[in-house]
Formats: sequence, C-alpha cells, structure tokens
Amino acid sequence: MVTREAAADEARGNGGDGDNGGGGNGGGFDFSGKTCVVTGAARGIGLAIARRFAAAAARVVVADVQPPPTPESSGDAGLVFHRADVSDETQVRGLFDFAVDKFGGVDILVNNAGVAVEARLEDTAVADWERVFAVNARGVFLCAKHALRAMNRRGGRRGAERGRAGAGQNRAAEKTAAIINIGSIEARAANPLHAAYAASKGAVHSFTRSVALEYGARGIRCNAVAPGWIDTPFNDAFIARQPDPRGMRAALRGLHPLGRTGAPDDIADVVLWLASDAARFVTGQVVVVDGGRTARLPLPGAEVAATVESPAAEPAATAAER
Ligand SMILES: NC(=O)c1ccc[n+]([C@@H]2O[C@H](COP(=O)([O-])OP(=O)(O)OC[C@H]3O[C@@H](n4cnc5c(N)ncnc54)[C@H](O)[C@@H]3O)[C@@H](O)[C@H]2O)c1
Repeated sequence: MVTREAAADEARGNGGDGDNGGGGNGGGFDFSGKTCVVTGAARGIGLAIARRFAAAAARVVVADVQPPPTPESSGDAGLVFHRADVSDETQVRGLFDFAVDKFGGVDILVNNAGVAVEARLEDTAVADWERVFAVNARGVFLCAKHALRAMNRRGGRRGAERGRAGAGQNRAAEKTAAIINIGSIEARAANPLHAAYAASKGAVHSFTRSVALEYGARGIRCNAVAPGWIDTPFNDAFIARQPDPRGMRAALRGLHPLGRTGAPDDIADVVLWLASDAARFVTGQVVVVDGGRTARLPLPGAEVAATVESPAAEPAATAAER
C-alpha cells in the first residue's frame, strides 16, 4: 500500500518507505490478539503507527478529534475510529469503555496526540499555555489512567501469576502490556518560541518514568519516543510560512547526519518495537529517534569538513589501494 506519507516523502526527496524500512507492513511483528489504542491517529505520526499495528494484525482503535481518511480511500479497513478529545476525562473514559466493549480490553496504548503553540513567551496567552498542557500532558495522564483500567482486564500480570512465575522465569505467565508516549527532542534541546510545547514534552518524559516504576511489577512497561523533525502536517504549516520553503527543507536535511528529515514510519517502527516482546526488558526509557540531529554539537563551519562521503562515491583506485 502506498501511504499518503510515502507519497509526500517522495515529493520531498526523502525516498519514502523504501528508505525507511519497508512501509505498509508490520515490520515482522505479530500483534495478533492484541488491542491497541493510538491517540491523535487521524493523520501524521499517529496514522502511521495505527497502520503499522493493523498491518501486524493488531486490532486498532484510532482516537482523534477528527476522523482519519475513509477506509475506502486509504485501504485502512483494520482501523476503528472513535472520536475523543484526550484532554477531556469523560471522553477518555468513553474511549476506553468503547475499546473494552468492542475488544474485551486494551494491551497497548500509544499517547501520540499533541499540539503546539508558537509564540514569544511574553506574547503567550494563559489559554494557549493551558491548551498545550491540556492535550500534551493532561491527555497523556488521562489516557494512561483509563488504559490501566482496561489493561487490568487482561494485559497486566496479576499477583497470582506473578507468584507462580518465580522472578519472571515463567514466560507463559508473563502477560504484558505497554504504554508508549510520544515526547520530543524539544524536551532536551530548545527551539525558539516553543516554551509551552517544550515544557509539556518534558512533562511527558518525566511521567513516563513514573508510570514505569509504578506499574512494572504488574507487567506493564512504559516508554517514550522522542522524535526529531518528522515530515507531517504538524510541520508542513511551518515550512509553508517560510520565504523559501525548498531552501528551508534543504537546510533541515543538512542538520541530520543521516542526510534526511524523518518520515512518520521512522517513528512507527520504533513504537512497534517498544510495544513488542523484543523490548520486554525495556521500561522507563526515552528513545530519541531524530536521524542523529541532537548528536551534533554545533560548531560554525565544521559541519561540511566533518562529512564523510559514501565509499561508493570514491574513485575505484582509492578503494583498491586500501
Ligand atoms: N512532526 C514532528 O516533527 C514531531 C516532532 C516531535 C514530536 N512530535 C509529536 O508527535 C505527535 C504527533 O505529531 P504529528 O506531527 O503527527 O502531528 P499532526 O498535527 O500531524 O497530528 C496530530 C493529530 O492529533 C490530533 N489531536 C490534536 N488534539 C487532539 C486532542 N485533544 N485529542 C485527540 N486528538 C487530538 C489531531 O487531530 C491530529 O490528527 C505529537 O505529540 C507531536 O508533539 C512531532
């Protein structure tokens, strides 16, 4: 299936799914029998995550304030949409009641819904600050709180099973559940005009560690993914505002040691790994997925000199002399 994002990546020179680890499939994971709730999944990173889980045989509830593209036009037959504003506890309770009624419980929660406000601090209205925190921080708390109730129905390890398992040796008894929160590299390094957003994502990273400590003994793991620049509608508006959008895209690519900005599937693949049994001993962590952008210490003039060309681009004689 050619996703909307893949087509957009092609247009942006990002290479699309072919460069990103095989889009449109489940990445080799099998989530059959698992129910997954992905918030903010009508588009962008959330939609890519939802599609990846569906391709890996999970039952997926897409929770958003707007509907995703219709199944008829997108081929997303495996996704079930439920309208919910993650900042509203009544709606969040309704979301998890819906998942329990339809699928009997919840095994995986991906807290992805997020919003940003771009303003100088002195121009940031209290209402804007509170809106960003309501979605990005309160929404993560509310969804985790109500997901835990739904996970307890079948996901988390129960006391009796824990006793039988004896220090976790009995894998069969070790039914696990996972919460994955989408944070941001902006919780680690700042962009201008983003104080509210950055602070809210810092809250997400801290919350992740607390949940991991509190629920690890019940077999519920909690991790965060901190994306770097990912090409989604979230960032398209920023690009469109620039006097030279093409130049801005090229400059952005240059910030990344991997030579490109991110695609939604780059995040989705890591989320699926964190939700899978392959990450069974990983909890309380923030996994940065940013193409190496934050690995660099800015040093004026040094970027070009430090770039190592691909061996394929070297003259044959040079390679043979080695
Ligand atoms: N795109 C990036 O470069 C980037 C980088 C770091 C972190 N992130 C984070 O990744 C997540 C997804 O970003 P994206 O780029 O796909 O954004 P996006 O704006 O393209 O999509 C966000 C989705 O969240 C939904 N949403 C907004 N408020 C909601 C609410 N109250 N309740 C339910 N749904 C709501 C929107 O309707 C939309 O479908 C966000 O948490 C964002 O902060 C994105």
